[in-house]
Amino acid sequence: MRLVVDNVNKTFINNNTEHKVLENINLNVGKGEFVSLLGPSGCGKTTLLTIMGGFQKSDKGSVLLDDKKVEKPGVERAFIFQNYALFPWKTIKENVLFPMKQQKVQKEERERRLESLLEMCDLKGKENMYPHQLSGGMKQRVAIIRALACDPQVLLMDEPLGAVDFKMRQNLQEELENIWTKNKITAVMVTHDVDEAVYMSDRVIVMSRNKGQILEDLKIDLQRPRNREISEYEDYKTRLTKILSKCYEE
Ligand SMILES: Nc1ncnc2c1ncn2[C@@H]1O[C@H](COP(=O)(O)OP(=O)(O)OP(=O)(O)O)[C@@H](O)[C@H]1O
Ligand SMILES: [Mg+2]
Repeated sequence: MRLVVDNVNKTFINNNTEHKVLENINLNVGKGEFVSLLGPSGCGKTTLLTIMGGFQKSDKGSVLLDDKKVEKPGVERAFIFQNYALFPWKTIKENVLFPMKQQKVQKEERERRLESLLEMCDLKGKENMYPHQLSGGMKQRVAIIRALACDPQVLLMDEPLGAVDFKMRQNLQEELENIWTKNKITAVMVTHDVDEAVYMSDRVIVMSRNKGQILEDLKIDLQRPRNREISEYEDYKTRLTKILSKCYEE
């Protein structure tokens, strides 16, 4: 599905002071495209992503999904929240099965997907534990597989791998890439990791602390799967790091 952010504005009022977080933001994400959002803490990445997800409304402007206005969350979109947002009263298994039950996926199919997702995220044997019994990285992996369980057409991810350890992070980057390619998912991912942005994305967007303005929209023109060893890969990282450093000087 094609995702269009059309002139989105968002202002929050904190202690009687207006804080304009997003001003006239425009962004097009093509069907099956993978776009990353980079930018300093507080520049409005989560705000923009949650507006795309339909979890909050923009003050002005709109988000369109295949030309249809996004008004609320929908089954075609899966969202991975920055703070995992698991149901604390449900076990890992119940957390992952929940959206599939909501969408009336058949029992055998549910169990089959659950097994393969647990396997993918190395969570086998943990399925009967509760979120508070897991580490941060484990909880994050549960949030990922819960989002993938219903074969979404659009995947919105807020730092989905931020708490995951180095090795698992690289494995999951590959797995996510595979799933994204196979299912032609339209993906938007917030990350603070320049390497991750270059590895995963077709395009990287850099937002500034100044009302979320888009400072750069960089196409990553490298073959997939990406080879971290080549100089062009490093060049993209260097370029993005430079742009990001500038954000802090503003
Ligand atoms: N519900 C809210 N009410 C008031 N202010 C908010 C609300 N949500 C976000 N903000 C403010 O909007 C700004 C942008 O927040 P947002 O969470 O979008 O940043 P971010 O780019 O995701 O940052 P980080 O990288 O730290 O996650 C911040 O200054 C934050 O305090
Ligand atoms: Mg955020």
